[in-house]
Amino acid sequence: MNRDNQPFFDVLDEKALPEGGMAIVKVKGRRIAVIRRSGNLHAIDNDCSHVGGYLGQGTLEGNNVVCPLHQMAFDLETGKAVNRTGGYSVAVHEVKVENGRIWVR
Ligand code: FES
Repeated sequence: MNRDNQPFFDVLDEKALPEGGMAIVKVKGRRIAVIRRSGNLHAIDNDCSHVGGYLGQGTLEGNNVVCPLHQMAFDLETGKAVNRTGGYSVAVHEVKVENGRIWVR
């Protein structure tokens, strides 16, 4: 989905998310997990596409976030599940830092 014309939403103070940190924010009623890994920010749908585990309460393994319920691992860049067949994936979102704040769209 092309989001070029959609606005960014201010979701979090940048200092609130240290390296390896995860936060669950809401954008237009949708829960999004914002994650800082290796200095990069990622924003990925929080609710697991399996049965809704909170990825923002999961763990980081390499470039993946692992769901706390049944350990499905989702690539932070693509949102695709990497350790399970069946085409599971979650949406990823654009994220940026501006004026000390984290913005997502
Ligand atoms: S709810 Fe996430 S793997 Fe089952």
